[in-house]
Amino acid sequence: MFDGNRRWQVMRTFVGLFLFLGSAGVVYGAEGPAAPTGLRCEYLSNPMGIDVQKPRFSWVLHHSERAQMQTAYQILIAGSAEGLDRDAGDVWDSGKVDSNDSTQVVYAGKSLSSGKTYYWKVRSWDTAGNASPYSAAAQFEMGLLSRDDWKGQWIEGNLLRKEIDLQGRIVRARAYVTALGYYELRINGEKVGRNVLDPAFTTYPKRVLYTTYDVSRRLRSGKNAFGVMLGGGWATLGRRFFDPEVGPYYKTPALLLQVNIEFEGGKTVFVVSDGSWKATQGPIVSDSVYDGEVYDARREQPGWDQPGFDDSTWSAAQTVEGSKGVLSAQMMPPIRVVDSMMPRSIASPRPGVFVFDMGQNMSGWVQLRMQGPAGTQVTLRFAELVYPDGMINRENLGEAKSRDIYTLKGQGEETYEPRFTYHGFRYVEVTGFPGTPSLDSLRGRVVHTAVGAAGSFVASKQILNDIQRLIHWSQLTNLFSIPTDCDQRNERQGWMGDAQATAEEAMMNFDMAAFYTNFIRDIRDAQFPDGSLPDTVPRKYGGVPGDLGWQTAYPLLCWYMWQQYGDRRILAENYDALKKYVAFLRSHAQDNVYRLHWEGDWVELAHTPGDYIGDVWYYYDVSLFSKMAQILGKSDEAASYGQLASQVKDALNRTFFDAHTDNYANGTQTANAMALFLDLVPKEHREAVQRSLTDDIVYGHNTHLTTGFIGVKFLMPLLTSLGRSDLAYDLAVQTTYPSWGYMVERGATTLWELWQDKAGPAMNSHDHIMFGSVGAWFYNALGGINLGPESVGYQHIRIAPQIVEDLHWASASVDTIRGTVSSSWSYSPGSIAIDVTVPVSSDAQVVVPAEAQMTDVVIREGGRVVWEDGRYVSGDPGVKGATQQGRIFTFEVGSGNYSFRLTGSE
Ligand code: BGC
Repeated sequence: MFDGNRRWQVMRTFVGLFLFLGSAGVVYGAEGPAAPTGLRCEYLSNPMGIDVQKPRFSWVLHHSERAQMQTAYQILIAGSAEGLDRDAGDVWDSGKVDSNDSTQVVYAGKSLSSGKTYYWKVRSWDTAGNASPYSAAAQFEMGLLSRDDWKGQWIEGNLLRKEIDLQGRIVRARAYVTALGYYELRINGEKVGRNVLDPAFTTYPKRVLYTTYDVSRRLRSGKNAFGVMLGGGWATLGRRFFDPEVGPYYKTPALLLQVNIEFEGGKTVFVVSDGSWKATQGPIVSDSVYDGEVYDARREQPGWDQPGFDDSTWSAAQTVEGSKGVLSAQMMPPIRVVDSMMPRSIASPRPGVFVFDMGQNMSGWVQLRMQGPAGTQVTLRFAELVYPDGMINRENLGEAKSRDIYTLKGQGEETYEPRFTYHGFRYVEVTGFPGTPSLDSLRGRVVHTAVGAAGSFVASKQILNDIQRLIHWSQLTNLFSIPTDCDQRNERQGWMGDAQATAEEAMMNFDMAAFYTNFIRDIRDAQFPDGSLPDTVPRKYGGVPGDLGWQTAYPLLCWYMWQQYGDRRILAENYDALKKYVAFLRSHAQDNVYRLHWEGDWVELAHTPGDYIGDVWYYYDVSLFSKMAQILGKSDEAASYGQLASQVKDALNRTFFDAHTDNYANGTQTANAMALFLDLVPKEHREAVQRSLTDDIVYGHNTHLTTGFIGVKFLMPLLTSLGRSDLAYDLAVQTTYPSWGYMVERGATTLWELWQDKAGPAMNSHDHIMFGSVGAWFYNALGGINLGPESVGYQHIRIAPQIVEDLHWASASVDTIRGTVSSSWSYSPGSIAIDVTVPVSSDAQVVVPAEAQMTDVVIREGGRVVWEDGRYVSGDPGVKGATQQGRIFTFEVGSGNYSFRLTGSE
């Protein structure tokens, strides 16, 4: 206990420091609201190249007083930075709008033009009618809004170049670039931007995403050279796909590029990809997402991306048909090298074989430094595991060769890192190295979609922090423009089941709004004409139609976007397609029972019948759809789908509920948890079904799980809602098989695909995110951060930490769309402390539980008594009231920081 308290104090100092640093940059006036910060446009800060005609804005409010709200706002948008400085809203001046919306505010100005940059700022008014200063200026820039804006052609080639003479003073230049595959754009000898593995993986024949770069300062008056390297990426990858339709989309990679160069005086020159480009074979001999890159440095052509290079031996680039799909702006964080890692150790299990241990299972590649004679071939092979003798174990990589081969050019020190592949690995085997490598010869390059961090969770029980660390890594290493299942074998697909199971966790841990907005569109692109959806998006693998636990990612992700970010537009945009999806389900549900299935409760330990699981999803989907209709004001449809949902529920109970044994289907944890979670159980049987479930966990399995990744997503929050957080906690901190803790104890640094500790050729990835759904439970239950009842986007918050067993403290914080929400609590006998932060314009219920036997409860907030003698004591600023229900005290508070301390006698 002492130790726990001391750690809590240390941690509080950190949290305090963090909050202090977090608020740096906020300028508070003597009184009244401070300038808004965190300006976002379509969830992105200062996005370049968006193609939404009516973008949405959000900002974060600050106020030195508690219980403050925005009562009005004003947005100014100008066509120039100087205009905005003068407070000119020549593009849009919203005027003073009476509204407390600080998120999802829809643009309503003049129509926005292709390629133009807009500058904006916002101010707000508080409850007393005081105006804040204007925010600092933010900007957003439109991409190419119509197909006619694109003047180039798709061209193919491995290495492409174009030289151009530009006369005049360049005032502004933008490059719009995409590829079927991956590209690296270079101008005058330097790489443009920091994106790697760009563009995103999409259903290319339907949609290709382009990226916009500001290249104004890269170009100069006179000769300029553009160089592009192309890799195949997902566009040319074809192996192992059962269906010819999803084989390689294209034979060779192709480029579509356009650079708009504006000169002083108003002239614009367009440099576009077309047959005037030159092409040749570069040093990349082959590249494949799964197999790695083969690079021969002897084939480098120094200066190829610089002006003045002699390209007379190069041939003319071939124009190709390319994609006829929509060209859309890539409006999400790009894939980047986000970090570099030192290897932890190096071993030489056999002569000439060097195995580096990164100490962490990661996604990306390595950078290798070496010196040696020309023609020396160095091979890097990647693995998640090693054999007892120290050699790498690659049996679980399936058909992925996952290796990079570099041939030295023999000129001094050479540095190599690949461009158009990535690996999932902890160990790197180096063979053929000239000499003996040292730890310094190699750096790990951590690569994934560069989503920002949004949340943190830490608790007094170390195993929880370890699991949180595994979730963190598994989540990030499985973000590669789509949410992937794994990062190492020949799969790495957008398996929809994995995506839906972990989206809530991801949204608490990371800034996911733009990422899922994109993925939801990917799902819509992959929908079949009959309304059904594939297992993977973009569709490459799996069943057609997908299992319902996978298809259901479509309504569920839309729903989570609504809940977490208040995104009504996503519901509206997807409504018709979702309706089609529900119609498909309905057409396969004879007598209201849906029976198509195949994955069920994937990687389960006790089998739950797939037709039962499918039917539960059917019910879930129909009832969500009915809610969406209600939110969009379509009351008739809401009612009719609501009715359908209740028919499905009745049929489900008739078909799968055994009232004699109080079990659903065959009574597995998954079966009963799903039914209880979705409130399917007839009232009079609820308690008994609960008992079936908890008995199975406690007595049937000695407090262990038998679920796969589908069941566990329901089980943990369900147990908390049943008042059994203690049991959920026991499962969460369990360290014997099967459990998350078991993975930690067995040395995992990312979550496994299976509960079992397996190696060998069968399916056993050591980096899957799908069991990571428990991460959401960490925030909701242990941290206590929840959406308020019926609330979305954290306007109303419920802070309800579950103070369980030997947990002495926990602390969670989430940067929500409305600002930071945090909750930190600590327990010691006779006393419970809860510190919370509620953003301006939000409010919260703060649930402070007393210990079961406690009497004479006194609760203070910031030292002031707010509860005493069985009564709420008013007067504390920001606290609006409190109620008691048994040993639970619930305070209603407005925005601000609060420190509640409950004491009592035992
Ligand atoms: C993937 C899983 C996926 C499953 C479904 C596996 O190969 O790795 O994560 O959901 O297939 O069939």
